[in-house]
Amino acid sequence: MLFWLYNLNAMKKEDGKMEKIVSLCKRRGFVYPGSDIYGGLANTYDYGPLGVELKNNIKHAWWKYFVQDREDMVGIDGGIISSAKVWEASGHIKNFKDPLVECKECHHRFRADKLKDIKKCPDCKGELTEEKQFSLLFKTFIGPVENDQQIAYLRGETAQNIFVNFKNVLNSNNKKVPFGIGQMGKAFRNEITTGNFIFRTLEFEQMEIEYFISPDSDWNKIFEDWVNYIHGFADLIGLNKNNFYDDEIKKDDLAFYSKRTIDMEYKFPFSEEYEELWAVAYRTDYDLTQHQKASGQSMEYFDDTTKTKYIPHVIEPTFGVDRTLLALLSEAYCEEGEGDDKRIVLKLKPNMAPYKIAVAPLLGNKEKLAEKAREIYGNLKKKWNCVWDDRGNIGKRYRSQDEIGTPYFVVVDFDSLEDEAVTVRDRDTTKQERIKIEDLEKYFEEKLN
Ligand code: GAP
Repeated sequence: MLFWLYNLNAMKKEDGKMEKIVSLCKRRGFVYPGSDIYGGLANTYDYGPLGVELKNNIKHAWWKYFVQDREDMVGIDGGIISSAKVWEASGHIKNFKDPLVECKECHHRFRADKLKDIKKCPDCKGELTEEKQFSLLFKTFIGPVENDQQIAYLRGETAQNIFVNFKNVLNSNNKKVPFGIGQMGKAFRNEITTGNFIFRTLEFEQMEIEYFISPDSDWNKIFEDWVNYIHGFADLIGLNKNNFYDDEIKKDDLAFYSKRTIDMEYKFPFSEEYEELWAVAYRTDYDLTQHQKASGQSMEYFDDTTKTKYIPHVIEPTFGVDRTLLALLSEAYCEEGEGDDKRIVLKLKPNMAPYKIAVAPLLGNKEKLAEKAREIYGNLKKKWNCVWDDRGNIGKRYRSQDEIGTPYFVVVDFDSLEDEAVTVRDRDTTKQERIKIEDLEKYFEEKLN
């Protein structure tokens, strides 16, 4: 709990909206602080019943758009624990480090490259220590006997699974370059500067693509095509382009493996600046070459049209699931109305909303109404993720569903028993329509699909 409060205080300074989102997340079951009943574990979070639905909606949309809808893509699901040799070869053990400084007075730690003055503590103005390099990789040990344990690492990026499996995928599929491999899953980083809720955490989820191209191809054009295709994904999930900024990273600031990177930055409510949401990088043949050298296994591709052999180059679009979820909540969160009419609404696109339709009898204690409503609920639930909500007065129930972003609310009233019709309320306009029960499925197919 202490860590949770500490984070909230840090955010209060910047923007009240962020604080409201964090509070809604815990109150309604999107995101909880990690290890909560033991006082929390800094910068770790657990996703609740609504958070996991929203996360899954993001991941399913991503997988469909980037993997299943494209003929030139396949997917894998690699392991989290990997041999130290993978990370030695990739250069992460040597290079995946941040410069750490510590305040001699308050002992707060900072990333030296993020400070304006690397001599003075930004919190208490105390003197800072000399810079030390700090590895971001989480080390772990395999084996029960302490002296005989093997060192392994939790993956610092999902990308390396893809490089390591490049030949396996090639040999077990009929894909020809150019083609890509997509993957989503957890990654782990021992970050020095964490915070801003789920923006920068120790454990997070990535969705990554390694797109393999010939060294002779026009990589800049392929790079630009990916940037445009990714903009289409922002539209698909409901992120406004006006809140995006494509930042061309300067040569000196590029990651050790990259020749060109665009950070796709987003205007999060916790910051005055745009912050990295997603990125596209040109990783050249760096990773496959490194793995070929270290493993002794060929990473070459034989092009049977040109009859040439080469190590493919790579364009890498990369996405953080948690940051995408935070961006969606930031974009969707609104407060409307005054006094008793005041409401909080999450204006999520229906494809992202945790529940698509709430169903209820007007009065929870009227058996005949409940019976009819249950029947409708059971039918709609076969097609869409629906929620049963019969507690309290109907006005309160509307507000409650607005707050978690449910786009439609179906109410069975006394007239329904006579006219076989129900009221459907729209979350955004709050308008209500009378729809015949037999037409409900068609109605929602048009609205939701
Ligand atoms: N394979 C390339 C790579 O990992 P990155 O920019 O370090 O590149 C990719 O990470 C994405 O992963 C970021 O754009 C961000 O969305 C997400 N990400 C990185 N570190 C994170 C952290 N500590 N917490 C939450 N998300 C993170």
